[in-house]
Amino acid sequence: MSERIEDIAIKMVSGGKGLLAADESTATIKKRFDAINLVSTEESRRDYREMLFRSEDAMKKYISGVILYDETLFQKAADGTPFVDVIRAAGGIPGIKVDLGAKPMALFPGETVTEGLDGLADRLAKYYDAGARFAKWRGVIAISDTLPSYGSIKANAHALARYAALCQEAKIVPIVEPEVLMDGVPGTQDLARSEEVTRWTLQIIFEALNEERINLEGMILKPSMVIDGKKLRKASVEQVAERTVKVLKETVPSAVPGIAFLSGGQSTEEATAHLSAINSGYDLPWHVTFSYGRALQDSALKAWNGKKENVAAGQREFSHRAEMNSLAAKGSWKKELEKAA
Ligand code: 13P
Repeated sequence: MSERIEDIAIKMVSGGKGLLAADESTATIKKRFDAINLVSTEESRRDYREMLFRSEDAMKKYISGVILYDETLFQKAADGTPFVDVIRAAGGIPGIKVDLGAKPMALFPGETVTEGLDGLADRLAKYYDAGARFAKWRGVIAISDTLPSYGSIKANAHALARYAALCQEAKIVPIVEPEVLMDGVPGTQDLARSEEVTRWTLQIIFEALNEERINLEGMILKPSMVIDGKKLRKASVEQVAERTVKVLKETVPSAVPGIAFLSGGQSTEEATAHLSAINSGYDLPWHVTFSYGRALQDSALKAWNGKKENVAAGQREFSHRAEMNSLAAKGSWKKELEKAA
């Protein structure tokens, strides 16, 4: 019997669990490996992902699902077990990134529109057969004093909504990810500008989702937080949490079961602290958790450093971040817990 998408969506975001975003494209994972001087090959990518997916403690206790890239969805661990089975054995749900990337948007200098709708219905059927039960599509919204434009938000919202419709028809839960970049040009936008752009983006996104008849109970929203640019970073953890909650309450219907944030270049600890503050002290109508890439992986990648003998050290780091973010999803993370570890 096939599961209802509404039930899968709840499972993805509840119980203090969250998502591991391990869906770096081949080009992006190469950049991450470059930082540890590791050559990116099919084998090194497999070894790295296997290190993460076989972190039993983290996967069983804190991770509800993993977002994979096409190559990884069909890849096998060194002993021949399909990664999809490794993830399922730990109780996780396999998911798949299906967009084909943000491409320069014609006539909109400095802005992008995400591609990948052509042939998507066929790809979704193939991914479903391979075990994927949710998908991800990321629209990128530039930010500066003059960006984004209405045209680029509209184009990205439309693509996200069309993608979500195709997913739901294929019995796959769509993660709708509109990422308002943290750093615009010149990377100094303040909290007020981030709040304004995030609100505008989410309003247009939900209009588009409604126009395309999306079942809100069968989707997950993956937004960025309302945060000031990296070079500025003056806002306190409490201010980020307060503005983020305010904008989400104004724009996200309570029918949406869950919100799973991206980390977007925040430091690992910042991403955890912000999530925990959002989950403490506010009455929220949705489950609010993490769908972090870098904020879950950075320390594990460094500890592993591409070496077999460091697999256990990498897994310890990953488990630690997963545990900290699980506590944050319940609003009970404390800075002292980082030091204790
Ligand atoms: P980050 O948490 O590194 O931003 O990645 C999450 C993600 O899936 C971006 O699309």
